[in-house]
Amino acid sequence: MVERGARTLSSVVASQIATHARYGGVVPELASREHLRNIVSVVRAALAEASVTLADLDAIAVTAGPGLAGALLVGITYAKALAFARGLPLIAVNHLEGHIHAVLLREREQKGTGFSPYVTDPNTEWALAPEGDSPLTPETEPALALVVSGGHTHLYLAQPLAGSWTYTLIGRTVDDAAGEAYDKVAKLLGLGYPGGPWIDALARFGDPHAVPFSFAQIKRKVHLNGRPARTKAAKTAPIAELDPRFLFSFSGIKTAVLRYVELHGMRSEAEARAARLFPVQAGHPQHPPLSCHPERVRIEAKDESKDLRFEIPKTREDALALCPQPTLDLIASFQHAVIGDLMKKTFAAAEAHGATRLLVTGGVAANRELRERFTGEASRRGLFVGFPTPALSTDNAAMIAAAAWPRLLAGDIAPPELTADPSLALGV
Ligand code: KG4
Ligand code: ZN
Repeated sequence: MVERGARTLSSVVASQIATHARYGGVVPELASREHLRNIVSVVRAALAEASVTLADLDAIAVTAGPGLAGALLVGITYAKALAFARGLPLIAVNHLEGHIHAVLLREREQKGTGFSPYVTDPNTEWALAPEGDSPLTPETEPALALVVSGGHTHLYLAQPLAGSWTYTLIGRTVDDAAGEAYDKVAKLLGLGYPGGPWIDALARFGDPHAVPFSFAQIKRKVHLNGRPARTKAAKTAPIAELDPRFLFSFSGIKTAVLRYVELHGMRSEAEARAARLFPVQAGHPQHPPLSCHPERVRIEAKDESKDLRFEIPKTREDALALCPQPTLDLIASFQHAVIGDLMKKTFAAAEAHGATRLLVTGGVAANRELRERFTGEASRRGLFVGFPTPALSTDNAAMIAAAAWPRLLAGDIAPPELTADPSLALGV
């Protein structure tokens, strides 16, 4: 529940991590089922926590895409019914625009309270270049947005236009998203799902320079020959027309980690670690989440693993004790390389497009090293960088409500025939 796009009254997330963790990734059928199971109680909890009723609402916001069709449809169908029953306008929001507005929401909240968001500690949710001129008043400055999550690694130029925002895609991954690489590498190393929080927690105990992973510059000819490459996420985005300096590729580093593991005989160690951390019982390998943002998970999806008596590690210490130094070094090197590549291309894009303000968002933006390094580099270059609160970095509904507000003001109401678009692209 968000007031006028600028104040979070409640943020309720039904975590499906426990459901999907045992399969090491999201299972689409289970995702729709869990959405269906939880949507009514989540909406009720969000209203109750905000101390409002349906009669107090100005509009209903819903994610139209991109995402899993079944899960999107559950939200759209429910939102339509609610909007129709209450005579409220329905606002369709792009999931990626939501992630961008998670940062803007934070900015507006800080502005609203008169509290300066500009602090120098990168471990807090805000960390910006120190000189202190607020970029917040009014929202007229274009910004470069990096959306880095399990499904996307996309760069957008975001421009305020008549109170609303327009977006231009200027870079993206040509294959895996950065979060996907985190998840795959974590799985390969016998760690939990989703992998990001595990790698985040363990990387700080390793030497980031131990394994020199590198990213090759993506060649223009690879993408200009023939049709534009398609990826799972936004398959309509024209990769071939983008500047290759701002294209990402994370499938190579995943393979490089795999090769390193094979070459250094680390496979059996990883399998032993997985067996210790996630004992297999009743035919289900169990991958519980590392408790990373407990405040985010207010409602736990019904967890079927409760029937099975697992020995579940609750903290990173359990995994840390099971990781020899070379493994920690590998983890640290992987993370260092991924963040280095994200930074290199994002700052190059900011320079090329004259953006002085960066919005870094999406699940991977919860990463501590990422926040520290982006903040340091922005400070060196005299740029501003904003992140969402850690809790609003990963998927949530507050960011969708925040993004809907300018659309509502602009009269951008969804048509009654609104339907899910799993590959909905943002901007042009
Ligand atoms: O935005 P999100 O919740 O869902 C998508 O829209 O994809 O992002 C989930 C992704 C996962 O790949 C997860 O491993 C990654 O974000 N992630 C992290 C961290 N927390 C979540 N990656 C690195 N460090 C983290 N602390
Ligand atoms: Zn997301």
